[in-house]
Amino acid sequence: MADIRSNFVGIKSPNPFWLASAPPTDKAYNVVRAFKAGWGGVVWKTLGEEGPPVVNVNGPRYGAIWGADRRLLGLNNIELITDRDLETNLREIKQVKRDWPDRAMVVSIMVPCTEDAWKAILLRVEETGADGIELNFGCPHGMSERGMGAAVGQVPEYIEMVVRWCKQYTRMPVITKLTPNITDVRKPARAAHAGGTDAVSLINTINSITSVDLDDFAPQPTIDGKGTHGGYCGPAVKPIALNMVAEIARDPETHGLPISAIGGITTWRDAAEFMALGAGNAQVCTAVMTYGFKIVEEMIDGLKNWMDEKGHRDLDAIIGRAVPNVTDWQYLNLNYVTKARIDQDLCIKCGRCHIACEDTSHQAITSMVDGKRHFEVIDAECVGCNLCVNVCPVEGCIDMVPLAAGAMDRRTDRTVSPDYANWTTHPNNPAAKVAAE
Ligand SMILES: Cc1cc2nc3c(=O)[nH]c(=O)nc-3n(C[C@H](O)[C@H](O)[C@H](O)COP(=O)(O)O)c2cc1C
Repeated sequence: MADIRSNFVGIKSPNPFWLASAPPTDKAYNVVRAFKAGWGGVVWKTLGEEGPPVVNVNGPRYGAIWGADRRLLGLNNIELITDRDLETNLREIKQVKRDWPDRAMVVSIMVPCTEDAWKAILLRVEETGADGIELNFGCPHGMSERGMGAAVGQVPEYIEMVVRWCKQYTRMPVITKLTPNITDVRKPARAAHAGGTDAVSLINTINSITSVDLDDFAPQPTIDGKGTHGGYCGPAVKPIALNMVAEIARDPETHGLPISAIGGITTWRDAAEFMALGAGNAQVCTAVMTYGFKIVEEMIDGLKNWMDEKGHRDLDAIIGRAVPNVTDWQYLNLNYVTKARIDQDLCIKCGRCHIACEDTSHQAITSMVDGKRHFEVIDAECVGCNLCVNVCPVEGCIDMVPLAAGAMDRRTDRTVSPDYANWTTHPNNPAAKVAAE
């Protein structure tokens, strides 16, 4: 059986599935049930400094986007960091860590950007016996207006400074959580690295307004007639998070920096994809808020089964495996030619492929042949874009078939050349040309 035990920056857990810092990790009652269900670790809901706890809105705090089947695709929230007092949180963290020594207990922290504030909280968290800390530089609302969260995460110099303080004042591993609300995620990752962080985690939520009430003319969720931007998460953000993780994993300046992946992870497959792109483990929030703690059972079984099937013995066998295959556009093989093929037995003749192809640009799919509805690909027009595959409502009905070397591409009247397989160094490759010059 595959070994899915995880060792992330020295923090051990029986599996790579952690709960992200959020409502499911805000109290012992939740975290204990999560551990019972099988979660490998948690990042405790973000703690703030000593003093009166923050006050959340008392109206709706979520907005959502659904698929046609009402499945939750994207969730937007305007919640703040923990609204429970610091002492209670610290006491519970200590107790839970003591009772569950084999699980990862990481504590998320966000305090004002002064050395004293960070020093003070670090000492108190260390006292609990927690395994590590996560610096919340990502919260996009409520706290950033107070000079915390994303307000720090958007300024690389601040990130570096705070990480340095943390490395100075604690022995615990430091995980720096990054905000996606920036232009180039490599900049904050490099700053965290320069400050000495042990790892980065990403992504926190994305600034968003999910919808507008057209009766009240106010963004939703609406609190007494007004709304504000919130943080977007859930399956809809996964592609953004995957790209950001890959960007950091393949950046020579942060190469090898451990990454904890967050963003839309719902199944073992999502987690495996993030790990293939360089993440050491996976954190989950929205999926658990939607389906409950028990989803971890399927995540564990699914990951193990897949690894057994493929012969991957442990997590190191998959972590980063896809990174060398992420490249810049100019290195893509422009002589790799595919054509769409419609399986006539599966086709339900809805015509969506035809409409998409016709009105997009290529006019490469028939709609009527001999006076009958018939959808077939015209190779001489097909550019191989695969839009038809993506709009077809029947899975597996349309496939993209690569032309073999030596075959004729009827669109360009050119033969697919065998030496095009060697595209990276081919003279027709503009990138190879530049490199040669
Ligand atoms: C209601 C809610 C509260 C959250 N609170 C925190 C928080 O206190 N600290 C933090 O670092 N991230 C917080 N997050 C962000 C999550 O930890 C996570 O980064 C984000 O939701 C993306 O993961 P997901 O797509 O699995 O939800 C919160 C998210 C939600 C939905």
